Amino acid sequence: MSDPDLVIDARDLDKSYHLPHKTVTVLTGASLTLSAGERVAVVGRSGVGKSTLLHVLGALDRPEAGEVRINGRSIYALSERDRAMLRAREIGFVFQSYHLLPEMDIAENVMLPAWAGGSRQSRTAIRRRAIEMLERVGLADRATHTPLELSGGEQQRAALARALMNAPPLLLADEPTGNLDRSTGTQILDLLFGIAHQTGHALVLVTHSPEVAALCDRTLTLENGRLV
Ligand SMILES: Nc1ncnc2c1ncn2[C@@H]1O[C@H](COP(=O)(O)OP(=O)(O)OP(=O)(O)O)[C@@H](O)[C@H]1O
Ligand SMILES: [Mg+2]
Repeated sequence: MSDPDLVIDARDLDKSYHLPHKTVTVLTGASLTLSAGERVAVVGRSGVGKSTLLHVLGALDRPEAGEVRINGRSIYALSERDRAMLRAREIGFVFQSYHLLPEMDIAENVMLPAWAGGSRQSRTAIRRRAIEMLERVGLADRATHTPLELSGGEQQRAALARALMNAPPLLLADEPTGNLDRSTGTQILDLLFGIAHQTGHALVLVTHSPEVAALCDRTLTLENGRLV
């Protein structure tokens, strides 16, 4: 039975990559539950499958077995279109390598989830909200710059603003400070935790840092395809 209060209820996930010459087995029976407002750190050695897990939880990559429920809905049982809508409205994703679209300016990048989520607001209103998000991460003065004109830390802050655009109840962050110097990393984490706290977002944070993991309510280790 699934618990309706769980933001994530993921059970028995299997996931492999099938390459021409071999199969890489990544997840074998991984399970995770997360309550509203809860913050969980996921740790584990490089290549163990943390990003894969986050993609499966984030409606980006279908598992071969198991089920992922987000706010009670079994996301891989939905149509492609409904899943894309759920992803835009309910999940904010901060990628290991930012994933900003280079042909759009920063404000437009932040506006994307509003469009993907089917917002009926005017372009002007959506842009105004995107600028507010950029103000929260200290980047309003870079709104009309393209991603490649920004530093790594600025790109990660823009990616965070984009993840927060639709005020999703769930944030998934994949080593959001991995490529940044310590003080910029601390700034990103302060923003992430500050905003999660203010808004009651649940958070799954992949990190290599025990200090960062200690900021969360629980730490899970991914090893041998499972979370322990
Ligand atoms: N698209 C892909 N095709 C084939 N194999 C892949 C693909 N993506 C990941 N893998 C393999 O799956 C395994 C898990 O990768 P994943 O990126 O999930 O690890 P990770 O724990 O996030 O590592 P890191 O800490 O280095 O980011 C790795 O061994 C990797 O080689
Ligand atoms: Mg990774």
